[in-house]
Amino acid sequence: MTTLAQNWDGVRVRVPAKINLGLAVGPRDDEGYHQLSTIFQAVSLYDDIAVEHAEPGTITLEMHGEGSEELPVDDTNLAIRAARCLLDNVAQQPERLGAHISIKKGIPIAGGMAGGSADAAGTLLALSVLWDLDVAPNEMCELGAGLGADVPFSVVGGTAIGEGRGDEVAQLLTRGTYHWVIALAEEGLSTPRVFRRFDELFEPAPVPQVSQELVMALTAGNPRALGEALHNDLQYAAVDLRPELQELLDAGLDAGACGGLVSGSGPTCAFLAESEAEAMTLLNRLQATGLARDYRRVHGPVAGARLVAG
Ligand code: C5P
Repeated sequence: MTTLAQNWDGVRVRVPAKINLGLAVGPRDDEGYHQLSTIFQAVSLYDDIAVEHAEPGTITLEMHGEGSEELPVDDTNLAIRAARCLLDNVAQQPERLGAHISIKKGIPIAGGMAGGSADAAGTLLALSVLWDLDVAPNEMCELGAGLGADVPFSVVGGTAIGEGRGDEVAQLLTRGTYHWVIALAEEGLSTPRVFRRFDELFEPAPVPQVSQELVMALTAGNPRALGEALHNDLQYAAVDLRPELQELLDAGLDAGACGGLVSGSGPTCAFLAESEAEAMTLLNRLQATGLARDYRRVHGPVAGARLVAG
């Protein structure tokens, strides 16, 4: 006897969120994008994407999960843009293809953890399998870079250095697993708004090299050294727009974190613990402060966008 699930001929993909362990912001390029030097780490907070065949010529999207009702499901959504990108650039007979995309959000929306980029990366992978398109991993990164600066990292995952707009990624070999507590904010922050505030607050400076302290801490697998080396230039702008984040960051350190920072453009904050057990204690202490909407315990690095069974 077969079940409905066994007959399903769709494809499922799981994609992680990211934290920027270091983020240095340089001058803007001709299109207004900033040159960045960053180290990404993929962490165990995921969006799950399922795709199935639909009427040729149609691409439809449904989204589930906390806050997803705020997101558009039209052609402005990065998942739909990723589908169109494959049809326009890779498919031989795009008029014969169609898909329905269903996304379950686990990554906070407008949280600075690359949730939109994760959906683009996951959709590129899922549809290239569903439609039987031959897309090599580096081609997926190139297509992804056209959709958003963080998409190539969402494809590769793990720990990686990001340069250019953050879209030129190179995997970094690291030792160990890092345990984090993520503090979710009541309301998201717009990435362009945070970059704009950064430009108002600071003079353009040449983009520095990737922090050697960070690389050394990651190579050694030393969470204490990593905690001390965490740094995010965008944190100043995010805290300027949301001053209450400073109280949360201070509370995380008081609660025993090895380090804490705003994740990307925020407002999510990430606190590093020395071990899994320490992360549980940290989570309990942070929960007691009531300074964030909710908290998640995650670990990294984890793999980038990947196929899941069933
Ligand atoms: O590439 P993505 O669409 O994710 O970027 C969102 C916004 O963040 C851009 O429109 C831009 O305002 C800002 N950004 C930037 N420099 C980068 C990456 C993003 O100014 N390197």
